[in-house]
Amino acid sequence: MTVIPTLGTAFELPATGGGGCPYAATVPLPAAGGPVFTVAGNGVGTWRLTRPVDVRAVLADTVSFTSRRGPQDPPPGPAGREVLPTIDGMFVQHDGSAHLAYRRLLAHEFSDMRVSAGAARITAIAEKHLDAMVRTGKPADLVGQYALPLASEAVCALLGVPWEVHGPRMLDLFAGQDLGNADLNSTATPVDDYLRHLARDILADPARYPGLLGRIAAHGLPDRPVEASELAGVAKLLLMPGHVSPTHMLTLSVLTLLQAEPAWYAKLASDPDGAPDVVEELLHHITVKQQGLTRRAVRDTEVGGVLIRAGQWVTCVLDTPAAELGAFTPGRTPVTHLAFGHGPHQCLGQHLSRALLAGGLSVLARRLPALRPATAPEHLSRRATHTVAGVARFPVTW
Ligand code: HEM
Repeated sequence: MTVIPTLGTAFELPATGGGGCPYAATVPLPAAGGPVFTVAGNGVGTWRLTRPVDVRAVLADTVSFTSRRGPQDPPPGPAGREVLPTIDGMFVQHDGSAHLAYRRLLAHEFSDMRVSAGAARITAIAEKHLDAMVRTGKPADLVGQYALPLASEAVCALLGVPWEVHGPRMLDLFAGQDLGNADLNSTATPVDDYLRHLARDILADPARYPGLLGRIAAHGLPDRPVEASELAGVAKLLLMPGHVSPTHMLTLSVLTLLQAEPAWYAKLASDPDGAPDVVEELLHHITVKQQGLTRRAVRDTEVGGVLIRAGQWVTCVLDTPAAELGAFTPGRTPVTHLAFGHGPHQCLGQHLSRALLAGGLSVLARRLPALRPATAPEHLSRRATHTVAGVARFPVTW
């Protein structure tokens, strides 16, 4: 995760990664140099790319680099963590037409136009969960009582999963989840049991799920009916990132604004139309995908002046390089951050995330202008070993 220059002192947290970022235990702030070969905790070597130009080149080049992975080709990762084979429907780990078929199937529901049409609903969901948080009294946990239920209900609304029925169980299951290989490809966790059950239920009666998942169950994939295991895999790839990434991005955004940019927090209350620019600037400064994205070369390819051999891994760091961060300047053009990745796998949920962050921040700033941390930031417990940066709990008062 990138840190806004002022945050290092504002948070007064010890630097853990050697680079000053208070939340990344493993990744130092990138210096904008060329590819550097490093060995990950599990002994797998990888070319670490920190220059946006190199990162873009790799993520856009699906001829030279693959997203596939598995026990035969273990990606660089932490020591002692088993690498699981890709499960059905996990299309982020597919290439070419196998990947494209899913993107086409899902693109409409996740489009900017479709998500924008649901902006008022996101605001209503945010108001509802803020009401509940305020009712329970101070201090409250902004992660568990606001950010997570807001993300959960918003993504369920888009997928057509009735939140009144499934929400409580989802909150239970997805709190604390991560998005590493083992989390996405597991088959034997309570999340997997739940999603298999959900997929069977949707297939049995798609009409009870009036949205994307019900539609896939009713009409199948373009060329064939969908299997329960595939539907469970797709549900997992939408529900897990849909819960985890926006929750932590929203929480870290609030922490950042309160600690380093309180004037911008106050401005959100009086100028909600400015929220999209503030969100974009937060994404320029905060990259929750703290361990970057991995790809494997399938042929010898030159990147950033270095020859990456067929079979070698690259790790694409998404953080804005320190030299390009600048001061907190909402409205900067052009917007160049890589928070949502790049190329054909660029985040499917980016429009939903933007709407969720803009709505979630505006409602919070308008309703709780005196919001502040109830715990000294250095006492927040970081998700330091997770692929998605964040804090486990964020006690706040107002
Ligand atoms: C702030 C929030 C989010 C961030 C920072 C984020 C970041 C990313 C990144 C960097 C990728 C690229 C992965 C790769 O190239 O290997 C990605 C892919 C993806 N994200 Fe997100 N994400 C967020 C929210 C969401 C949400 C809300 C959803 C779903 C509801 C979602 C669903 C997906 C899916 C399905 C992919 C795979 C796309 C593909 O392979 O074509 N994400 N995300």
